[in-house]
Amino acid sequence: MLIKNLVTGVFTGIVFMLGASAWAAENPAAAPVYAAKGEQTCMKCHDSAPVTDILSTPHAMKGDSRTPFANHACETCHGASPEHIKSAAHVTEGQKPVPPAISFSGPNAASAKDRAAVCLGCHENTTRINWIGSKHDRNDVACNNCHTIHVKKDPVFVKDTQPEKCFTCHAQQRAESFQYSHHPIREGKVVCSDCHAMHGSPGPKLVKEFTINETCYNCHAEKRGPLLWEHQPVRENCDNCHTPHGSPQARLLIERMPYLCSGCHSGAGSNQSAGFFGGLHSLPGQNLNNAALLNNELQYRSCLNCHTQVHGSNAPAGFAFTR
Ligand code: HEC
Ligand code: HEC
Ligand code: HEC
Ligand code: HEC
Ligand code: HEC
Ligand code: HEC
Ligand code: HEC
Ligand code: HEC
Ligand code: HEC
Ligand code: HEC
Repeated sequence: MLIKNLVTGVFTGIVFMLGASAWAAENPAAAPVYAAKGEQTCMKCHDSAPVTDILSTPHAMKGDSRTPFANHACETCHGASPEHIKSAAHVTEGQKPVPPAISFSGPNAASAKDRAAVCLGCHENTTRINWIGSKHDRNDVACNNCHTIHVKKDPVFVKDTQPEKCFTCHAQQRAESFQYSHHPIREGKVVCSDCHAMHGSPGPKLVKEFTINETCYNCHAEKRGPLLWEHQPVRENCDNCHTPHGSPQARLLIERMPYLCSGCHSGAGSNQSAGFFGGLHSLPGQNLNNAALLNNELQYRSCLNCHTQVHGSNAPAGFAFTR
């Protein structure tokens, strides 16, 4: 009995939309009543844009049996809504009709889970396989928080308008996009979805690939290596030194030079032999009292004055990334 209830519960949403007849036959009282003339019934009243813009989208392709319009039209998504139609026909000035079974926006909006369930009924295929349990799902963000259905071209698919959609919730990333150094998002060259998989990801922070590095290599392929002399933190995670969206430091660095380097190369461990002090070091035949050497280590490009190949080196003598 318990199992039957559970199964019934899970299926109600789908049945509700598609009216699976086997289940309905068993429970005749619950069989949904759809409008006899499909979208024509609804569009008697809802006859203007933006609602009617859906007619120019793939969802309205009646010739494609997988689409809402080839099923119960508007009610495939909004649910069977006889009460809405009935009451709407009789509302007077200042009154509101009973809302349809499922609203996606406004004060009558269904819960995020229920709204997403409608879409997943058709879209839970390969790319949405990680949706359930993803950060957005767990935080009650539904499909239509990003997607707009009653529109000719969904703004989230357009490079110039996608970031604005995300920034309505992600104010920090918006602020970062104005930093001195930033990925050219505002310039329209890179979009959020170049790096992020919005429907869930096996990697961290919804990045597109399994790791952050693999995501970066998609565009910065020259950093992939393999190199003769690898710099361990680069192989580990680009995040060790870079922040992806924007930084007040040049080159999207998380820290100013030389602190970026001295954060790890502080004098402890194997580097002691080179005479490390707060990340600074002597060179063979010189010591840190040498003013010219000190300047070199602290000024201009600091450590990068000499360690030009921080991402690793292919030169036979590139063990210290100086060539
Ligand atoms: C007789 C006219 C009429 C018909 C037919 C009709 N509606 Fe409505 N609908 C209305 C009115 C009036 C409102 C309220 C508009 C408002 O709040 O400004 C409304 C509101 C809505 C809303 C927004 C509800 C909310 O509160 O969020 C949706 C969604 C909707 N209708 C869908 C449908 C669908 C789907 C159909 C067909 C199954 C349909 N309507 C048929 C008149 C109608
Ligand atoms: C693929 C699912 C889907 C189908 C099919 C669909 N809608 Fe909607 N509807 C939505 C979503 C999602 C919203 C929220 C706003 C948006 O995304 O554009 C919405 C919003 C609405 C609103 C409220 C608009 C507003 O701005 O207040 C009305 C009215 C409405 N739909 C009517 C209809 C009618 C009439 C049809 C059939 C002609 C229809 N819908 C077909 C998903 C759908
Ligand atoms: C009855 C099944 C069905 C339902 C329910 C449904 N869709 Fe779709 N949707 C489709 C089909 C079929 C296509 C066309 C896919 C294709 O061409 O491969 C499509 C296309 C899309 C596209 C791509 C549009 C484009 O311009 O390329 C988006 C985005 C989308 N749906 C989102 C949604 C969202 C969000 C919901 C819930 C509000 C929803 N769908 C509900 C069947 C459905
Ligand atoms: C955080 C924003 C966001 C949310 C939430 C979201 N999407 Fe998307 N979706 C996008 C973006 C951006 C694209 C285009 C880029 C891409 O494919 O990654 C897209 C593409 C799509 C497409 C067309 C391409 C494809 O993958 O088939 C469909 C269909 C779709 N989404 C359905 C859904 C459904 C269903 C949900 C809810 C379960 C959903 N989306 C939730 C942002 C979102
Ligand atoms: C160049 C690749 C790239 C682009 C483009 C990008 N991101 Fe990210 N994003 C990342 C990486 C990598 C992380 C994880 C590392 C981190 O948190 O610093 C991340 C993390 C995030 C996080 C989680 C932050 C946290 O601290 O948990 C959010 C939210 C986010 N990105 C939103 C966006 C939005 C919105 C856009 C578009 C305006 C965007 N990202 C564009 C690569 C990118
Ligand atoms: C309706 C609000 C909303 C919209 C729109 C939205 N997000 Fe989010 N997003 C959230 C919330 C809430 C979280 C969870 C926040 C947290 O954990 O701090 C989140 C988390 C994330 C994360 C971090 C995931 C993780 O695993 O930590 C990324 C990346 C992200 N969003 C990217 C995007 C991108 C890209 C878009 C636009 C295509 C977008 N979001 C649109 C609300 C939204
Ligand atoms: C979709 C392609 C793309 C992806 C993926 C990508 N980048 Fe970039 N990256 C760019 C572009 C475009 C620029 C700007 C290049 C220019 O202006 O010459 C850039 C610039 C940079 C810069 C230099 C910024 C500056 O101020 O000069 C750094 C550092 C960087 N990316 C690191 C990363 C990291 C780390 C990742 C992974 C989290 C990553 N990128 C993923 C396209 C990408
Ligand atoms: C140990 C710190 C560190 C790590 C880890 C690191 N970088 Fe960098 N990266 C730097 C520094 C420092 C610069 C500035 C170099 C300069 O100005 O000559 C830089 C510059 C860049 C640039 C712009 C200049 C160029 O060389 O093209 C890109 C792109 C870049 N890094 C990508 C990456 C990617 C991708 C990863 C991960 C595979 C990564 N970085 C890991 C320190 C690091
Ligand atoms: C996140 C920590 C981290 C940061 C930041 C970092 N490194 Fe490293 N670096 C390492 C590790 C770990 C090794 C390997 C040490 C070992 O094998 O003993 C290393 C090795 C080196 C080596 C020696 C190569 C060798 O094989 O002995 C040089 C030179 C070096 N780093 C320079 C830099 C410079 C310059 C910066 C700043 C741009 C920097 N590192 C930033 C962790 C870091
Ligand atoms: C004037 C050029 C120069 C400057 C500036 C410089 N280095 Fe070096 N560094 C070298 C040379 C050359 C070596 C190789 C020394 C050797 O042959 O033992 C080296 C070696 C290293 C090593 C490997 C030491 C070992 O024996 O394991 C690390 C780590 C390192 N430097 C970090 C830094 C950091 C951090 C900075 C900035 C604070 C910096 N270097 C600034 C030239 C420089």
